[in-house]
Amino acid sequence: MLKAAVLGATGNVGQIFVQLLDGHPWFEVTTVAASERSKGRTYNEASRWRQSTPIPEAVAQMEVVDIDSRAVKDVDIVFSALPSAVAGKVEEDFASAGYVVVSNASAHRMDPDVPMLNPEINCSHVSLIEEQRRKRKWDGAIVTNPNCSTTVLTLPLKPIFDEFGINSLIVSTMQAISGAGYPGVASLDIVDNVIPFIGGEENKMETETQKILGTASKPADFKVSSSCHRVSTIDGHMEAVFVETKKKAEPNAVAEAMENFVGEPQKLKLPSAPEKPVIVTWEKDRPQTRLDRMEGKGMSTVVGRIRKDPVLGGVKFIALGHNTIRGAAGCGILNAEYLKVKKFI
Ligand SMILES: NC(=O)c1ccc[n+]([C@@H]2O[C@H](COP(=O)([O-])OP(=O)(O)OC[C@H]3O[C@@H](n4cnc5c(N)ncnc54)[C@H](OP(=O)(O)O)[C@@H]3O)[C@@H](O)[C@H]2O)c1
Repeated sequence: MLKAAVLGATGNVGQIFVQLLDGHPWFEVTTVAASERSKGRTYNEASRWRQSTPIPEAVAQMEVVDIDSRAVKDVDIVFSALPSAVAGKVEEDFASAGYVVVSNASAHRMDPDVPMLNPEINCSHVSLIEEQRRKRKWDGAIVTNPNCSTTVLTLPLKPIFDEFGINSLIVSTMQAISGAGYPGVASLDIVDNVIPFIGGEENKMETETQKILGTASKPADFKVSSSCHRVSTIDGHMEAVFVETKKKAEPNAVAEAMENFVGEPQKLKLPSAPEKPVIVTWEKDRPQTRLDRMEGKGMSTVVGRIRKDPVLGGVKFIALGHNTIRGAAGCGILNAEYLKVKKFI
C-alpha cells in the first residue's frame, strides 16, 4: 500500500478524496492536513463530514496537521485539494521535498511544464514531468487535473476531435453549488435562482480545453467560447455544447465515436477507470442531473440529445458529469493510478 496525504482534507473535494480512497487497492490515507482552524483537532471534529457514506473509521480519529511539507512525514503521494491562492507555493514546497503532488487546484494548471491530465485524453503529457524536474531542479512533481467543467466537457470532445476535427466550439454550463466549495454560495443567493457568473471559470474552460486536447508542448488551435452559470443543484455540472467540426459529422456517427471511445485507463484496467468514459443516451429528456450524475460511479460523462447544429454546421449535445468525483477527486485518483503504473510514484 502507498501512503497518501490529503491537503485540504476537510473541504468538499478533500472529503471526496477521503471517501474514494477508503478501501482503495493501492492508496491509503495516512495524513490529513488543512488550515489553522482544523490543525490539532481530529478529522471527525474538524471536517463536518457531509457525505452520504459514513466517515471512514481509520481517518475519523486522525489528527489534522499543518499543510507545511515539514509537518507531513512518511508518505508516498500527496493529493492537494487546497484553494488555489494557497496551493501554488505549498505544492512547490512538496515537489521540492521530493513528493509527487496530484493537485485539483488551478495554481499550476497552465504552467507549460506541468501536465494537466484528464487521463483518457492526454496521458502522454506526463512526459512534461522530466522537463519540470530538470527546469525546477526538484525530484518530486506537480501534476494537475483540469477544472471540473473542463473535465466533463473534454471527455466527449476527444472522440469528436480525433474523428472529425474541431474548428470551434461554444459551451454554456449549468454548474452545481458544490463546485463553489463549502459553505460556498449563500443559500439566499442560490435557492430559486440562477447566477450567470462564476469568477474565472470561463477563461479556465477556454484555455484548459485547448491545453488538454493539444500536444504536450502546443495547445490545440480551435476556438472556444464559454458561458458559465451557477444553478441550484447540489452535485453535477450540465453543459450545452455546440461544435463546429472540420469534417461532416452526422449525429449517429458522433454517438458511435463517443460510445467506442476508451483511453489508457481502460486499457490498463486502472481501479478507478469507468468502463465507459462517455455514455450516450437517446432518451429525449436525458441526461438529467439528479438521475444521471452517478453513472460510472460518478466517473463517466453522460451525453444526450446529440443533433445537428444548423448554425455552426457540426453537432450540438448535452453533457453531464459529477463535479466533485470526475471533475475533482476521482480524476486526481485516476491520475495517481496512472502515475503509479508508469512508475512516477
Ligand atoms: N468543488 C469542486 O467541484 C472542485 C472541482 C475541481 C477543482 N476544485 C478545486 O479544488 C480545491 C478545493 O476545493 P473545495 O471545493 O474542496 O474547497 P473547500 O470546500 O473550501 O475546502 C478547502 C480546503 O482547504 C483548506 N484550506 C483553506 N484555506 C487554507 C489555508 N490558508 N491553509 C491550509 N488549508 C486551507 C480548508 O481547510 P479548513 O477546513 O481547515 O478551513 C479545506 O480543507 C480548490 O482549488 C478548487 O478550485 C474544486
